[in-house]
Amino acid sequence: MELRMLKWTWPFLLFGVAQWPVVTNGLRNGLALTPPMGWLHWERFLCETDCEKEPYTCVSERLFMEMADVMVYQGWLDAGYQYLCIDDCWLAPKRDAQNRLQADPVRFPSGIKKLADYVHARGLRLGIYQDVGKQTCAGFPGSQNYYELDAQTFSEWEVDLLKFDGCYYGTLEQLEDGYRRMSMALNRTGRNIVLSCEWPLYARPLKKVNYSEVAEYCNSWRNFGDISDSWSSVKSVLDWTAVLQDSLVPAAGPGAWNDPDMLVIGNFGLSWDQQVTQMALWCIMAAPLLMSNDLREISAESKALLQNKEVIAINQDCLGAQGYRILKVDSFELWEKPLFGGSLAVSVTNRNEIGGPRRFLLSRIMLWKGTACGDVCYVTQLLPTRKEYGYFNTTGILSLSVNPSGTVLLRID
Ligand code: GAL
Repeated sequence: MELRMLKWTWPFLLFGVAQWPVVTNGLRNGLALTPPMGWLHWERFLCETDCEKEPYTCVSERLFMEMADVMVYQGWLDAGYQYLCIDDCWLAPKRDAQNRLQADPVRFPSGIKKLADYVHARGLRLGIYQDVGKQTCAGFPGSQNYYELDAQTFSEWEVDLLKFDGCYYGTLEQLEDGYRRMSMALNRTGRNIVLSCEWPLYARPLKKVNYSEVAEYCNSWRNFGDISDSWSSVKSVLDWTAVLQDSLVPAAGPGAWNDPDMLVIGNFGLSWDQQVTQMALWCIMAAPLLMSNDLREISAESKALLQNKEVIAINQDCLGAQGYRILKVDSFELWEKPLFGGSLAVSVTNRNEIGGPRRFLLSRIMLWKGTACGDVCYVTQLLPTRKEYGYFNTTGILSLSVNPSGTVLLRID
């Protein structure tokens, strides 16, 4: 499983000035070679623990079993969404007599191992949540002082992914040491467990984050606060990512991903165009695609967007390069993501929230010169609707109509 991870650094701001690829060490567990895809309960279901009052939406084994069934029967697994992930609030208020973690006995009467069996029998993988500190963010027992034991427990339960939060961590040293220790403890179990961290989010106020170190211990990591079901939240994630892209983009690659948090498509807060923008930009950013929505009652439109195979292919491209913003002009944003074999994904977002669709004139010289297609590239629009633009030569100009707060996503081969 010892893989040498190839990481690439890509050009920023200056058109066509490519840096050479550099080799760094990602977490050497051979996992998450493309961004993890799946479902995570937090944004939609939060910490509802009253199953008498809210049997349909409380954090319980019933919720995860129902979601597992839908993921298989409604095409989510086929589209690539494989990890079914439990977030905070699954735990009983106390560890057991041997100090082992235990699931809440009322809400998870069969226990996590049985849930893992249920999930695995359907071809899915199970994710779970814990915290590097004394308590989880919602106040359940944390892993501090128990890293080895908890890693062992997760491995025995046959868990496949751990989201490791950073609340109540103590000192910066304890925070960083805790992430290192848990990562090593998981490796020692011998089980393939993807590690999703929040280390940079908690460390950033205290120090300059060393991303090559974070990438040595984590398969993905959160940089910013929690996403919510709103356009302002999605915009702030995009803005922060663009501001910090010089440090974030070079750190990403197979096995190691920046995590801008969950997809909230299919909920209540985003218009259709804003959902298109979240999907397009999360794919451009090579973000983990972890949906937090109710798959039992999602609209056909949102489902088609989330299951769009050509769009997902941009995210899952095996080169593993994170895209970046190359231009911000006249309320338009232009981002690009290099793809395997010299292809390119390009997005144009209209950040105006007033007026109607606006035209953006895209010319080849705005884009990275390294696209292998040379003089003539073939352009396909993937979002908001599929459309073939045909060949695009070096002097050609594409006239794109972009809705307010919407995005046009192109693939250039
Ligand atoms: C936050 C974390 C969220 C969610 C929540 C649970 O710190 O960023 O994604 O896991 O804790 O309490």
